[in-house]
Amino acid sequence: MKTGSTGEPVLEVRDLRVFVKRDPGVVLVDRVSLSVSAGESVGIIGETGSGKSLTALAVAGLLSPELGVEGSVEFGGLDLLQLPERDLRAIRGARIGMVFQDPNESLNPVFPIGKQLGYAIRAHAGGLSAAAVRSRARELLDLVGIPQPAERLGQYPYQLSGGMRQRVMIAMALASDPELLIADEPTTSLDVSVQAGILELIEGLARDMRLATLLITHDLGVVAGQCDRVLAMYAGQVVESRRTRDFTAAPAHPYCQGLLRCVPDPSELGVVRPGIPGTPPAPGSTDQGCRFRERCGYATDGCEAPQQLLDVIDGDTAGLVRCWRAGGLPGPTIAATSTGASA
Ligand SMILES: Nc1ncnc2c1ncn2[C@@H]1O[C@H](COP(=O)(O)OP(=O)(O)OP(=O)(O)O)[C@@H](O)[C@H]1O
Ligand code: SF4
Ligand SMILES: [Mg+2]
Repeated sequence: MKTGSTGEPVLEVRDLRVFVKRDPGVVLVDRVSLSVSAGESVGIIGETGSGKSLTALAVAGLLSPELGVEGSVEFGGLDLLQLPERDLRAIRGARIGMVFQDPNESLNPVFPIGKQLGYAIRAHAGGLSAAAVRSRARELLDLVGIPQPAERLGQYPYQLSGGMRQRVMIAMALASDPELLIADEPTTSLDVSVQAGILELIEGLARDMRLATLLITHDLGVVAGQCDRVLAMYAGQVVESRRTRDFTAAPAHPYCQGLLRCVPDPSELGVVRPGIPGTPPAPGSTDQGCRFRERCGYATDGCEAPQQLLDVIDGDTAGLVRCWRAGGLPGPTIAATSTGASA
């Protein structure tokens, strides 16, 4: 039975920390909390290196061995961080679907796609006959919009376009009828002309299957079109967490205001918007103050203190922002004290 059918979170991440084991002072993901309910899509945005992928990999238990992890990742009543690898692998295969940036890295070039889909189907439903597996594989290809699915089953990845390969990856992620879909930059490696189709596909399937979706992207336009809520990450921390439409209308954190200013206007084709000047602090920096301080046009002496997540008072919605000055800047009102816990 699917969890989350009554609106409770399918995934609840609390105080997630990812650090380098041989140098525990190098914290790459710093106390990230988030939740995703059935049928809900939560976007994680942020510049390169902000910790988006590591957050997703930590949730899925796929961090490389040199990295350590702390906190909790509740999924279906279990803390995934406490599970032995074998149990975690079973949950990942059956109940969490994952789509990554580059389908070429995930598809095996020497097997036809029908065979690879077959593995994914059998991993979930072991007792199926060869004919039933083939029929389900054909159904899945059809579901993700691949024309002539029966013929495609016998083809190798190199015989498919990049967009089709990504559709196959989505089919594989959905083969087990998962409750949670994690998509990390699912269209970045694709031609612009096919990106929208893939995103619409993910959105439509997630809605129809009432999936909880965690969508990672550096593209604010994608989040605006697709996500119910958005988390902005900077230097390993969540700096803002809001309902998407409130966030895009009036981001509260200066970094997020900068991100929004970088989004190209479709009416200004060919105009390149400048990025946010400067670079984030290196992971492991011992500076305790606001991590955006060096790049922030609003920085004052008070910004040298550690920044907590503060409540955003914004109509009927709750939100969080990690900036003590945000209330005095253009944007929503900020509560004087923080109750902020889960982003
Ligand atoms: N195995 C590792 N050992 C040490 N540092 C790492 C390791 N993996 C990632 N990092 C560092 O952790 C930080 C966050 O990486 P992450 O891949 O989560 O970024 P990201 O937000 O997904 O960026 P992008 O948008 O480029 O994909 C980066 O500074 C990266 O260099
Ligand atoms: S705390 Fe200060 S430096 Fe940091 S984002 Fe807010 S105003 Fe800028
Ligand atoms: Mg990444």
